Amino acid sequence: MVVPRVQAAIASAFGEEFRQMDPVIRPSQFADLQVNAAMALAKKVGLPPRDTAAKIVDALELDGICTTVEISGPGFINLTFDGTWIEELLNAHSSGAEAAPPAGPRRVVVDYSSPNVAKEMHVGHLRTTVVGDSLVKVLEALGDTVIRQNHIGDWGTPFGMLIEHWLEIGEDSPEAALLVEDPMAFYQAARAKFDASATENEGFATRARLRVVALQAGDAETFAVWQRLVAQSKLYFNAIYSMLGISLTDDHIAGESSYDADLARLCQELEDRGIARISDGALCTFPAGFTGRDGEPLPLIIRKSDGGYGYGTTDLATIRYRVRELQADRVLYVVGAPQNLHLRMVMATAREAGWLPDTVEATHVQIGNVLGEDGKILKSRAGTPVKLIALLEEAVDRARAVIDASRPELSEEERAVTARQVGIGAVKYADLSTGHDTEYVFDFDRMLALSGNTGPYVQYAAARIRSILRKAAVAGVAGAAGGTGAAPATAIAVVEPAERALALHLLEYDATLRKVGEHLEPHRLTGYLFELAQLFTAFYEQCPVLKAEESVRQSRLALCALVLRRLSGGLELLGIETPENM
Ligand code: ARG
Repeated sequence: MVVPRVQAAIASAFGEEFRQMDPVIRPSQFADLQVNAAMALAKKVGLPPRDTAAKIVDALELDGICTTVEISGPGFINLTFDGTWIEELLNAHSSGAEAAPPAGPRRVVVDYSSPNVAKEMHVGHLRTTVVGDSLVKVLEALGDTVIRQNHIGDWGTPFGMLIEHWLEIGEDSPEAALLVEDPMAFYQAARAKFDASATENEGFATRARLRVVALQAGDAETFAVWQRLVAQSKLYFNAIYSMLGISLTDDHIAGESSYDADLARLCQELEDRGIARISDGALCTFPAGFTGRDGEPLPLIIRKSDGGYGYGTTDLATIRYRVRELQADRVLYVVGAPQNLHLRMVMATAREAGWLPDTVEATHVQIGNVLGEDGKILKSRAGTPVKLIALLEEAVDRARAVIDASRPELSEEERAVTARQVGIGAVKYADLSTGHDTEYVFDFDRMLALSGNTGPYVQYAAARIRSILRKAAVAGVAGAAGGTGAAPATAIAVVEPAERALALHLLEYDATLRKVGEHLEPHRLTGYLFELAQLFTAFYEQCPVLKAEESVRQSRLALCALVLRRLSGGLELLGIETPENM
C-alpha cells in the first residue's frame, strides 16, 4: 500500500526515470515502516541523502494515512501510520474486499513442465512444473488470462530408436510397461540397444534411423506406434501431476510434434527474406548480438545439413504460434537455466522476423538445478537413479512418521491426508522459496523441518488458526465462523504492538502478489507467508485470544480468521494445501 506512493513521490520529485520499481521498505523499531530509498537515489540526483529524503517526503501523499513522517539517520524515512486508517483498511479486507483487478489484464502464455516423452522426467522438470504452476495461479489471481502450454518433447530422432525398441519387445511385455512406471529405464534400454548395435543386435541402429524417416514421412504403422508411445508417456506425466496437484491436463499439451507441418515453410520464409542463410550446409540464422568466443556470429541452426529440423526450428514455430494464434501479450518460458542462450536466440530471431513485436514481452524464467547432497545435479541417491515418484513418496512417508508420532489421536484417514499435504507441500515449498534461478540442495530434513522458512512451518500456523477457530465455534463464540475462515461479522481493533505489526503485514498482501506477477518470483510470496506466520506466532504468544474478555476475543478471532484466509489463499497460489489438523 505504501510502495506505489513512494514510487509516485520519487517520480514526481526527480522525474520518471528515477522511479524505483522496488524501493526498500521495512518494519522498524522506531516507526511502523522505514523507507530506505534516498541513499540509492542521492548519488544519481547529486544531492546529499538527507536532502534527497526531504524531497521525497515533500512529494509523498500520506494525508490521513500517517501521523508522523520523519527523516532519520543518513536519510531513512520513518513512517508511523494512523491507527484508524489501519483499522479501516484492515476491516475492509476482513469483510471480503479482495485485491482490485489490475489495469489492463494481459494474455499470458506460460510454457512450463515440458518433459520429454519416453525419457526421464527428472527433478529439474519437477521444478519447472512447480514454479510454472504457481506462476499461472498468481497471474490468474491478478486478472490475467493465462494459457498453459506443456511443450513436451515428442518428436525428433530418438523416436526411431524408441519405436524400434517398442516393436521388438512387444507392447504386452514387462519392458513396455516401464514406459509408464519408469520411463528412464525404458529409454535407457532402447539407448543401450542402439549403442551396442554395432556388435550385438546388428542392424538395430539402421532400423532406428529408417524409422525416423518413416515417422517424418507419415508412415501409418510407424505413426500409430508413435501415438502409443506418447499416450503411455502422458499416463506417466499425469500420475506425477496428480500426485503433485498440478493444474496441467492433456488439453494443455502442445508438444514439439504439433508444429511439424509448419517447419519447412518457416525455414523457406526465413531464407527468402534473407534472415537465414546456408552455412556449412545447414540453414542458420545469426541474430544480432550473439557471438562466440572467437567473436564470430553464433548460428541458430534451423535446418541441419541432412535436411532435418531441430529444437530451434520448432521453437521458432512455437513462438510465432503463441503470438499470432494465441494472441499473447506476454510469453513466459519456465525452463532450465542451461537453455537460456537457445531461448534468447530464438526470441531474437523471432523479433528480427517480426513474429515477436516489441509490444509482446518474452521472458525466460530460468530454473536452477536441484542438487544432491554431494553438490552435484540430483540424479542418483545411494548409487541408484532418482525416480521422481519415489522421491515424492518418500516425502509423504517421512511426513507420515512425524504426524503418527505427534498426533496419534487423529484417525488413520486424517493422518494420511495430512501426511500427503505436508510431504508434497514441503517439496513444493522448498522449490518455490529458493530464487527460481538459483540452485538448491534437495534435503528432506531441511524441507520438512517445522521451524524456519519451510512449508510445514507455514502450514502449521494455518492449521493452528483452524484449531483456534474450531474451539471458539464449539464454545459458541459468534464470528468464529466454524473454522472456515469465512468473513466474520466483528470489526478488528488494532491495539497491541503485535496486532499492529500483523495488521500492517496483512495490508501488504495485494502488493506482494503484484510483485510476484511482475518479477515472476514465487519466492516473494513464500517470504511473505513465512513472515506472516512468524508475526502471527508472535501475536498469539503476546495476545490471548480465547481467554480474552468478550469484545477483545471477538476482535482477535476476526484477526485470526483474516490471517488464515491469507495463509491458505497464499499457499493455494503456490499449489500447496492447508491441512485441517497438523
Ligand atoms: N523438453 C525440454 C526439456 O526437457 C523443455 C522445453 C521447454 N520449452 C521450449 N519451448 N523449448 O529440456
